[in-house]
Amino acid sequence: MSEKPGFFISFEGGEGSGKTTQIRRLEEWFRHQGRDVVVTREPGGSPGAEEIRNLLLTGDPGRWDAVTEAFLMFASRRDHVERTIRPALAEGHVVLCDRFADSSVAYQGYGHGLGPDYIRNLWMLAIGDFKPDLTLIFDLPIEVGLDRAGARFANVSAAEDRFERMGLEFHQRLREGFMEIARTQSDRCRIIDADSDVDTVGERMISAVSDALGGQGS
Ligand code: TYD
Repeated sequence: MSEKPGFFISFEGGEGSGKTTQIRRLEEWFRHQGRDVVVTREPGGSPGAEEIRNLLLTGDPGRWDAVTEAFLMFASRRDHVERTIRPALAEGHVVLCDRFADSSVAYQGYGHGLGPDYIRNLWMLAIGDFKPDLTLIFDLPIEVGLDRAGARFANVSAAEDRFERMGLEFHQRLREGFMEIARTQSDRCRIIDADSDVDTVGERMISAVSDALGGQGS
């Protein structure tokens, strides 16, 4: 068991923000300093939560309505917190999580329109006031992110762009949602400008993490 206290960092952002690459970098950075690191993801991260992930991410896009989707997200999250995250933190590990509850606030709350308060109530019911020590929000213009994610927006004629525009509007709501989360939870959230090359974004991330670790050391 490490003599340092555990530290929980979540990685958030829209599509194509590069957070998965940066998680690996931060994992290396912590390991280099002799810390034990657990890398995990949501939805998923424990055997039960991975089963729920499968329900959430496969099948028809309309398979679940927004409310059911939100409940499934928090059912999987509770299992993940109880079976994976809390035990790792109790062992003094650093936990790096690819998405956490802020994704529910952004996607189900802002994106699908349930509203942030509805999701925060659900958050409280499912896991109480458990939250990350630090949340890194990787931000970049949505066109850049969707481009990176391989989406096609060019060459869509004005008459046939309804779906694409709906997509863009959804992603715009997401981005604004994440900015609002960062504003209202400024004690634990840091926005990382992700509109640069991998190394530059990595340096911004390390600097934000070092800053946040402050007193704890690393
Ligand atoms: P994933 O393939 O892990 O995507 P990404 O690389 O973007 O993280 O799929 C996760 C998807 O689930 C992603 O589109 C965001 C969505 N999601 C929610 O809608 N709500 C949530 O609470 C979480 C954790 C994820």
